[in-house]
Amino acid sequence: MKILITGARGALGREVIGVLKREGIDFLATDISQLDITDFVKTYESLLDCHPDVILHFAAVSDVDKCEEDPETALRVNALSSLGLGIIADKIGAKLLYTSTNFIFDGNCERPYAEGDKPNPINTYGRTKMLGENYIRDVCARHFIVRTSWLFGGYSKNFISRFLNSEEKPVSIDAVCDRFASFTYTLDLAEALLLIIESENYGVFHVVNKGVGSFFDFLLKAKEVMKFKTEIKPIKAAELNLPAPRPRYSPLDSQNYEHLFARQMPKWEVALAEFAAKPSSQS
Ligand SMILES: NC(=O)c1ccc[n+]([C@@H]2O[C@H](COP(=O)([O-])OP(=O)(O)OC[C@H]3O[C@@H](n4cnc5c(N)ncnc54)[C@H](OP(=O)(O)O)[C@@H]3O)[C@@H](O)[C@H]2O)c1
Repeated sequence: MKILITGARGALGREVIGVLKREGIDFLATDISQLDITDFVKTYESLLDCHPDVILHFAAVSDVDKCEEDPETALRVNALSSLGLGIIADKIGAKLLYTSTNFIFDGNCERPYAEGDKPNPINTYGRTKMLGENYIRDVCARHFIVRTSWLFGGYSKNFISRFLNSEEKPVSIDAVCDRFASFTYTLDLAEALLLIIESENYGVFHVVNKGVGSFFDFLLKAKEVMKFKTEIKPIKAAELNLPAPRPRYSPLDSQNYEHLFARQMPKWEVALAEFAAKPSSQS
């Protein structure tokens, strides 16, 4: 099996590369400098040349506020380039795995979202990722759409991971306590993606660690597990006044994945403890 990765220098790409190396699987890692997915012609030529069996399509504008401020780039990268990759993957007979997000949902549900629930994104990031899903579903027969949420891990640069991975932790940190979702350890996700691409179970899967929490809940648990002294202060999302609105309650339910692949996703607290026990996270 030969794999091509787009957006390989991102948080998930780097974690997946570690797993592929460990498993001795052949891959070609590309990011924007080797393969700018907004250039359809070059992408087509590169993929014809490389002829992968599987495309792991991670490239994205994943910064939710940047998407709100520059919707054209978000549309081009997250949606239109995914359409291009879908067309190419179908033409060369490759499997295409597209990573999507809980932010395609509006957050007004009172239970974790299932794969069949109706998307209704409330920000540009969610809208462009949902379009990417729809395009891929329309043009590429052998597709996997994997929705995930709030990644954390050694390479992630979001709010929680930047804090966890920082050597010198601040005296105090504000963490939003009134927005809830699922957390996902990039290593658990990377292992799940490998299982999925080895299968012929095409379609949509939610893959997240079990359980629901806010950033405040997550950092309180991290404080207990990693034994740092930083005071964690709860704040309301509205106080941050961020450019993009976020869903209030958007956890995902991984039941389909767990059932079809006979695997359990660990609880986020267990995944966090596993991450904290790794030497590189002991800063
Ligand atoms: N992070 C999360 O919490 C989260 C949650 C749900 C779903 N996801 C999805 O999971 C996937 C991976 O997320 P991630 O956290 O690993 O994202 P990431 O760290 O932002 O990585 C994305 C990579 O894509 C690259 N990229 C941007 N534009 C490109 C282009 N035109 N051509 C090729 N590469 C380009 C980025 O380069 P630059 O850094 O130079 O822009 C970056 O290296 C994304 O599809 C994201 O939407 C992430």
